Amino acid sequence: MKRAVYPGSFDPITNGHLDIISRASKVFDEVIVGVLINPNKNGLFNIEERVNLIQKCVKNFNNVKVESFSGLLINFMKNVEATVIVKGLRAVSDFEYEFQMALMNNKLNPNIETVFMMTNAKYSYLSSSSVKQVAMFGGCIKDLVPDIIINDIINKLSKEGDNQLWKL
Ligand code: PNS
Repeated sequence: MKRAVYPGSFDPITNGHLDIISRASKVFDEVIVGVLINPNKNGLFNIEERVNLIQKCVKNFNNVKVESFSGLLINFMKNVEATVIVKGLRAVSDFEYEFQMALMNNKLNPNIETVFMMTNAKYSYLSSSSVKQVAMFGGCIKDLVPDIIINDIINKLSKEGDNQLWKL
């Protein structure tokens, strides 16, 4: 059984993320979406909300699970018995950071392989931060995030009001 982890912040999940999840689910027997609990970064959505949003979007994939984790990714991988990290690459600008992380993870555990998938060209400009910014200023986020979570994002932003402690 080849089990892969697709790690990230997912604040919130975008169509670019979902595209990678969908493609990874065809390559691996099981894909675990790992949502990082980062105490140093204020998100728009808390961890439980992020996990719930992703679960709504992946409910039709029978080999995709969603879990949160804290600390080192390689320790989470060990706990869930996964050996492959899946990452999406959007542009050359992603490469340096991703290359560094892949080498570090491989140094920490040489049995872990990182596999990169090129983002679908139609999502190459997309990021969670830009989605939040567009939504915050009333722009249309259809086609940027799965339809099923559009209202969750709009409602969350309207509840947050002027309280912009969360980081774009
Ligand atoms: O969506 P993001 O914020 O780009 O995801 C980054 C993530 C969660 C993949 C990365 O920050 C991570 O793996 N964090 C866990 C800490 C860790 O294992 N660091 C060692 C590699 S440098």
